[in-house]
Formats: sequence, structure tokens, C-alpha cells
Amino acid sequence: MKLFTSVNDVQDINTLVAEGLQLKKDPYAFQQLGKNKTIGLVFLNPSLRTRMSTQKAALNLGMNVMVLNMDKEGWALEMQDGAVMNGNSVEHVKEAAAVLGQYVDIIGIRSFPGLKDRDEDYSEQVFNKFVQYCGVPVVSLESATRHPLQSLADLITIEELKTKDRPKVVLTWAPHVKALPQAVPNSFAEWMCKADVDFVIAQPKGYELSTEFTNGATITYNQDEALKDADFVYVKNWSAYEPYGQVLPGNADWMLTADKLKITDNAKVMHCLPVRRNVELSDEVLDSDNSIVVHEAGNRVWAAQAVLKQMLENL
Ligand code: CP
Repeated sequence: MKLFTSVNDVQDINTLVAEGLQLKKDPYAFQQLGKNKTIGLVFLNPSLRTRMSTQKAALNLGMNVMVLNMDKEGWALEMQDGAVMNGNSVEHVKEAAAVLGQYVDIIGIRSFPGLKDRDEDYSEQVFNKFVQYCGVPVVSLESATRHPLQSLADLITIEELKTKDRPKVVLTWAPHVKALPQAVPNSFAEWMCKADVDFVIAQPKGYELSTEFTNGATITYNQDEALKDADFVYVKNWSAYEPYGQVLPGNADWMLTADKLKITDNAKVMHCLPVRRNVELSDEVLDSDNSIVVHEAGNRVWAAQAVLKQMLENL
């Protein structure tokens, strides 16, 4: 694997999930694979889980790790080709990415969307320019439209904890105080549509995701109907795709509560974190035995390690 930006970069998701679970059992089995190899983790936005889990995964594989918080510590980047750089931007991505590629064997990049211009965000301009100019394999640490390491960890978690061959997995929209990207739900939907699960998306009207990601999912505006007999409930807010990046009025009653959970088949509750308590998910749910959000975050290590292992094998 030379590029990990979406499920479409994965040859066989079942093999990758199995690899993640095997690495969880024996984390240091491939310490030699990453010897004298370096990964550079470049963050244009904040992170707790992605940063720490990817570092841990790389260290487990014997790699060296360098982290650059580009938004705080790097030069202000120019993305436009042909720009006359007489404003605030100091360095063009052409040089910045190419130079980073001189120091490392693999680059990880996190770059959120601006949520102002849908065409610009969905063209993945920032992420793709790094890929174009860095000259080394690239792993997405979350881009404008997808969060594949999160989705792989989610699928590893479902595979690990499922009690039925084909569980019912529900992605349910949740309220939030600010506009959030569609990257996590897009990506989760895209992976679930390829997994051996019955996948349902529940959302208020107006929060339809791009069909590019939801092809094969059952979509409903009725949360109670969706939750019936669910085995896993994935809770997540996202802003509207149309009108782009907007928070629509109302829908506070979409927060997942213990009462709503009673409709499910004692479902396990997932969230990518960070979570706004008592806005997206109630305390009683998050603090209950149904919540697997910390376990899920722990599995971020094995997702990253499975991907980095495949990349190292192809260097
Ligand atoms: N879920 C996730 O990506 O968390 P961070 O933003 O903290 O990395």
C-alpha cells in the first residue's frame, strides 16, 4: 500500500481487519520492519487520538516518529498554484511537502475542511497537494472528506465485539453546538457499506450525506425505527452537505439517551471522540456498560499499525 486515503485504497478489508486484531495480540512482532524508517506526522489541525495512536503504532513497528504541528509551528502555507505570495503565506506547499519528503519514509497528514466552499473541500486540495509533492507514501490522518484510520478502527471494534455473524449497525446523527465536518460519517458509511453488516443511517431531514459515500446503506429520518434491534449504535454529529457546512435549526431531541437505547438489542455505543457530553450523548449512556468509546479509541493503535505495516512492506 502506497496511499491510504479511503477504503478504496484497501485490497481486502477483511484481511486488514484481521491483521489489526492479530497485531493487538502481538504488538511487537514486526519491530524489525520499521527499523531505520521514519514517519512524519503533519497536523494542520488539533488531535489527541490520531496523533498518539499513530505514534504508538509506528513505535510498535520499530519506526522513528517526527511530529510537526504545522498550524502552530510551521510556516503559513500557500496552496494556490501561481500565487503571488505577497500576503500572509510564507511557504508554498510545493516546497514544504517536497522538503518533508526528504526527511521521512512515510508521511501522515491531517487537514480539516473549511466548511465554506464545498467544491474546494471535496476536491481535497490540501491533502492532494501534499500527496502530489511529497514523493513518499501518504497516510490520511483525517482529510476534508474522510477519516479512514478511524473507520478501520471502528470496523476492527465491531468485528472484535460482535455476537452475531451479521450485526445491525446504526449511524445516528447527534446534535452539536458547532458545524462539524462530514469526514467521519462519510468514511464510516463508506466502510460499513463494504463490511458484512446491516447498515442503517438515521438523520434529521436536511443532513443527507453525499451518495458517493452512502451507496448501499438504508437511510431513514426516523431514529426510533432505526434503533430497533440495533447491535451497534454509532453516534456522530455532522453539518449539512446542502446547504453546505450549515447547522440546521432544531433536532436537540436526537441526543442518544438511555431510554432510546432500550429500543436496541442492548447495543454497544460507539463515537469517534471527542464527544460533547449531554449534547451528543447523555452521561448515563457514556458512563454505562453499553459504551465502548474508550475501547474503540484504543483500537486506533491497531488500525494504524495494520496500515503502516502494509506500507512498510511495500517501501
Ligand atoms: N477521533 C479522532 O480522530 O480523535 P482526534 O481528533 O483526537 O485525533
